[in-house]
Amino acid sequence: MIPGVDDGAPDLESALDALQALWQDGVTAVVATPHLQASRVEGSRRKLAEEAWRELRAAVSESLPDLTLERGFEISLDVPRLDLQDEALRLGGTRFVLVEFHGFTIPQRSAEVLGSIVAEGYVPVLAHPERYWGYDRPLSIVPEWRAAGVLMQLNGGSLLGENGDSIRARALRFLSSGWVDLIASDNHARPERCLSLRRVWDYLVARDLEEPARLLLEENPHRILKDESPWVVGSVEDSGGFFSKMIRAFKRGR
Ligand SMILES: [Fe+2]
Repeated sequence: MIPGVDDGAPDLESALDALQALWQDGVTAVVATPHLQASRVEGSRRKLAEEAWRELRAAVSESLPDLTLERGFEISLDVPRLDLQDEALRLGGTRFVLVEFHGFTIPQRSAEVLGSIVAEGYVPVLAHPERYWGYDRPLSIVPEWRAAGVLMQLNGGSLLGENGDSIRARALRFLSSGWVDLIASDNHARPERCLSLRRVWDYLVARDLEEPARLLLEENPHRILKDESPWVVGSVEDSGGFFSKMIRAFKRGR
């Protein structure tokens, strides 16, 4: 959403258009999270993002004064240590921080690396866990991350099949295992990546999953912005059996 700094909005106008579309779809708060590498948190990219952020925020306060616009970064863990003392690195300045694994690959000692963030008093929110390489079949690393205190943020588009059927099956597996705390749009303010969470809401509600949809899309994201722990969502499965059918098909390796 922050213009000109990343693979997102090319300019201020595109960012404002994207935010306007989200607002019209019922989205009331957006946290912009441009990419940043853990090894370069003090680099020029960070300064550029800060300037563009100020510009965007000023424009939004004019044109969409009731939209909450916060910022953070999606920090790629290309090195195991991360100094998070600067609140600008965290989601809306809270103790929560959005992180991802470098190169879409689960690194060695991932639970330890994420646990070290928790030990410093912060809460890692792992971006799109359904999209990484390096899982074993039972996804046995995930309970280790959960035990270390890591939150999970699914990409809404993965649920809708935007990243293929096997990623979708894995996303459903995360949901049915009760491992998901919130769902994000991964909206890049570009025509090919402009998912509105309204579509994810509709998808879940059509399967009688309004209560988990409310927790995943509304309540928990708002709690995080208030620096409060999200509610436990628990296992999310549809009564029609679509989720378990998809999961079974991909467990067999189809
Ligand atoms: Fe990412």
